[in-house]
Amino acid sequence: MLLKDRVVLVTGAATGIGEAIAGLFAAEGAHVHMFDRDEAGCAAVASALRDAGYSAVSSGGDVRDAQRIADVARAAIERHGRIDALINNAGIFPRRAFLEMSAAEWDEMHDVNLKSMFHTSQAVLPQMVRQQSGKIVNLSSVTFHLGVPGLTHYVSSKGGVIGLTRSLAREMGPHNIHVNCVTPGAIHTKSEKNFVSPEQVQAFVDSQSLQRRITPLDVARVCLFLSCELSDGMTGQILNVDGGWAMH
Ligand SMILES: NC(=O)c1ccc[n+]([C@@H]2O[C@H](COP(=O)([O-])OP(=O)(O)OC[C@H]3O[C@@H](n4cnc5c(N)ncnc54)[C@H](O)[C@@H]3O)[C@@H](O)[C@H]2O)c1
Repeated sequence: MLLKDRVVLVTGAATGIGEAIAGLFAAEGAHVHMFDRDEAGCAAVASALRDAGYSAVSSGGDVRDAQRIADVARAAIERHGRIDALINNAGIFPRRAFLEMSAAEWDEMHDVNLKSMFHTSQAVLPQMVRQQSGKIVNLSSVTFHLGVPGLTHYVSSKGGVIGLTRSLAREMGPHNIHVNCVTPGAIHTKSEKNFVSPEQVQAFVDSQSLQRRITPLDVARVCLFLSCELSDGMTGQILNVDGGWAMH
């Protein structure tokens, strides 16, 4: 097991990529602390993982709520005496034409997708510094490499995630804390039908080298790699999980 007895905090863990990360990490032996604004959904996923014999607890809350994040991180640290990995996964992606976008919509996107990582990272890093070890994995998006109309606020926030990753990796490297980033492509989640048509999905697959849908588990596996000792020589890196769409 790659994460035996490691203590992990995953945000946005009620569904999609975060749910897959929580399930895979739990199966690899981690104590998984799941956080989501969908409190009931997150609790149901955690309960199913416990029923399967794994270690999982859930907490409800908004990643924009710095105090709530601090409380949840403190509870995890008090329970286990350490924290080994933070997976910053929670995110939103509503489309809006740039000229129709309000400043409030721009701010909400950056608060949820980027500033939340400031809160979560500040909540776990003091303990990681004390331990002189830790892994942070930030979810950005391949759209940062491509640019997408109707998603300027989203792509801007995801570019910020890459900047945060690189600078925090340099700042925390002397403490043996690794900070890396995953950029998923078009992932076959339960919620995608709310955002894209079957024709758009086909266009995504046509743009990939691999001619199949890329799944939440595909992304979770790369997050696992970045959270365990297999990636101990890497920090500040950006890994595409997009079926060979963007290459750089
Ligand atoms: N699905 C894709 O194709 C894709 C592609 C590139 C990047 N990503 C990124 O991967 C991450 C996960 O995406 P997904 O497709 O699994 O999303 P999803 O919508 O399926 O799930 C996101 C989860 O985050 C939670 N969440 C959203 N806002 C929150 C908040 N303010 N506080 C707490 N929880 C909140 C939601 O309740 C939900 O459970 C996001 O950061 C997203 O930008 C996804």
